Order: sequence, then structure tokens, then C-alpha cells
Amino acid sequence: MTDCKFANDAEVIAFARDHSGVFPAGAHLGVEEIGDGNINFVYRVFSDDGTSVIIKQALHYIRIIGEGWPLSQDRIRIEAEALQQEAAYCPDLVPRVYHFDAARSAIVMEDIGAYENLRHALIARARLPLLAEHLGRFAADTLFHTSDLYLDAHRKKELVGRFINPDLCKITEDLFFLDPYCDHERNNINPLLWDEAEALWQDEPLKLEVARLKYRFLTCAEALLHGDLHSGSVFACAEGTKVIDPEFAYFGPIGFDVGSVLGNLLLNYAGQAQLPGTEAERGAYQDWLLETVAGFWNTFAGRFAELMEAKTQDPSLNLALYREAYLADILADTIGYAGTEMIRRTLGLAHVADLESIEDPQRRAQAESRVLSLGRAMIMQRGEIGSIDALIAFVRGH
Ligand SMILES: Nc1ncnc2c1ncn2[C@@H]1O[C@H](COP(=O)(O)OP(=O)(O)OP(=O)(O)O)[C@@H](O)[C@H]1O
Ligand SMILES: [Mg+2]
Repeated sequence: MTDCKFANDAEVIAFARDHSGVFPAGAHLGVEEIGDGNINFVYRVFSDDGTSVIIKQALHYIRIIGEGWPLSQDRIRIEAEALQQEAAYCPDLVPRVYHFDAARSAIVMEDIGAYENLRHALIARARLPLLAEHLGRFAADTLFHTSDLYLDAHRKKELVGRFINPDLCKITEDLFFLDPYCDHERNNINPLLWDEAEALWQDEPLKLEVARLKYRFLTCAEALLHGDLHSGSVFACAEGTKVIDPEFAYFGPIGFDVGSVLGNLLLNYAGQAQLPGTEAERGAYQDWLLETVAGFWNTFAGRFAELMEAKTQDPSLNLALYREAYLADILADTIGYAGTEMIRRTLGLAHVADLESIEDPQRRAQAESRVLSLGRAMIMQRGEIGSIDALIAFVRGH
């Protein structure tokens, strides 16, 4: 598989023609490389009549680094299978997979080019009326139906086996839970934030809580996670939402996925305070972001509780009290993992445009500082906050 890279455009076009079934025979096709991500190669193949497909190919290394950072090509099989799992429960919320090709290490999938990258949409202060409901439903349906609440015990363990994803998990284990809490060479720190970073490296109570969250990430095979559910993996428009790029999928704690969504909304919330525009515009958009946080959680938790009641197979788990306790635990995890996402996007290797696009370093440092202290407080108090309304009051008051 290591030499499966397409040699030229003609090979990409032939592959798309043979494996998508969407192009009429004899159609004239073109190709462009469109990947703005870091890890893989992404191509769009299109015909004169506007029909198009996407080909995503994983080589045995990280695209922007090269052979110096090897990475298992099994990630593309995992991505294809995760997209298919998600499509079983939310077919409207993921791109359709036309074909997965192990020899080429490539997926041929639906082109969702009409949708906009959510991170760009949030920075531009777009209001997306369906976003909260769609992401809440995506999280509830994909996570419930791959958990022990729903799956037969044998099927669950078989699936856990199919989604063992050590290379990609290791990236998260390091970038989320190790690097930001020490003076690591991979970190990327605004010099104006250096004192705060040094203080955080000495913060033993915080490091204890992060150790607890990391250990759950390592050991808690609760449900099949998307694993990389940040704003850049979500594409949205007024009519719909699509979630892409589940190459980090593995069985982990539900709150990690839910917390990734929440953390990214709060990163934008903090960025808005320093982004261009009038105070009124920015404040109104921050209100919309917090309404979206509440709408997202309420959809997720409401739908998850309904699914638990209607479809939990094991009678020893299908109890009203257990449903309540279970969702309270997920909320605490969600708040904690959201906090780790916020901290790692401020001190760690991979930053986000919600903060990076604040041009003035002083103003960017103010936003980053707010993210750091809010992220820390959320990690520390995740078990006490208790409800989404209390979290929103907590964020507003911070
Ligand atoms: N199905 C699709 N339809 C349209 N555009 C797509 C599709 N899949 C990917 N893209 C485009 O290619 C970009 C990179 O895709 P993706 O995030 O899957 O790649 P990646 O290499 O895994 O990136 P990352 O480094 O973020 O993990 C997306 O941001 C999007 O612009
Ligand atoms: Mg990716």
C-alpha cells in the first residue's frame, strides 16, 4: 500500500470514473487537488455538467510533513467504516461513501462542496439555524447506537476490535493531554502568554484532573467516537449539516466528542470578543453561540435519553435513575474535555483560526488568556456545574 499514490491526474480521473458510478460514459472529466487539511490528499473530480466526487487518499505519512512522520494507512479504512456506521443512523449528516479501496488507500465519496467549513462560518458570524439540532442528533444517534446500551455484547466487542486506532489515538493522547501541560518542543505559544503557560505547567491540581481525563480517554471504550469533532470537521449551510473526516474514530468516552463540539463553540465565543466588528455585533453573536451550546446539548441529551428509554437492550441498564445519572456523568466529561480542547488550541501545536485571525498579538493574547482560564475552570469544576444552563451562566460570569 505504501506506493499507492496516484501518479498523475489521469489515474485519479480513471479511479473516480471506475468507482463512483455518477459520471455518464464518455463524460469529459477534470481533477483538482483541494485538500486544505494536514494529513491526507483530497481531490475533486468533476465533469462539464457539474457532477463531481471527492477522493481522499491516505499515504503512509502525514502529507504536510512527509516521510519523517509516518502514520498507519489503516486510518482510511477506519474513516470509511466510521462514515458507514454514522450513515446507518444519520444518513443526512455525512457524505455518502461510494467506494473504499484498500489497495489505493482511498475513499470515493459525495462532494459536499456546497457546504461551508463551520469554523469559517463562525468567524464570519453566520447564524446557522439547524446547526445545534443537527450536531446534537449526530452525537446522540452515532454514540448511543455504538454503545453497550444498544449493541449486543458480542457485536460491541467485535466493533471495538475493528476500530483499534493506535496511531491516531496517540496523536490525541499527546497533543491534548501531554504537550500543553509541560514545556514541550511541539508547543506553539504566543510570547505574551508565556507567564501563564509557565504557571499552568506548575498547576498540580489541574494536572491531576487532566490525568483523570486522559486515563478515561485511554481506557473507557464507551462508544464509537468521531474522534476529531472540531469545527473544521463540520460543514454547514442554511439547509443542512455534514460531518466529515472521522479518521480518529475509536471506542472512547462519549464526552470527548460532545466536548469537542462544545469547546470549539466556546473558542469562537472567546475569539469574538477581539475579532473585528462593533461591540453590539460581537455581543449578539456571542449570545447566539451560547444559545447554540444550549440547543446542541439539549438536543443531544433529550434524544439520548429517549433512545436509552426506548432501545436499551439490557434491563439492568434500562432504569430511569440510571438514565439521569448517566447523562450527568456525560455532562461532566463533556465540560472537562471541552476544557482540554480549549487549552490545547491555545498552547499546543494546532491552533484555531478563531483565535489566530486576531491580528493584534496583544488582543489575541487577551482572548487566549480568557480561553486558558475558562478551560482550566471548566476542567476543575466539571463535576459541580450540573446543567447546561449553569455552564452558560458560568461562561458568562467568567
Ligand atoms: N466530501 C467532501 N466534499 C467536499 N470537500 C471535502 C470533502 N472532504 C474533504 N473536503 C475538503 O478537503 C479538506 C480536507 O479534508 P479532510 O479534513 O477530510 O482532510 P484531512 O487531511 O484528514 O485533514 P486534517 O488535517 O484536518 O485531518 C476539507 O477541509 C474540505 O475542504
Ligand atoms: Mg483528518
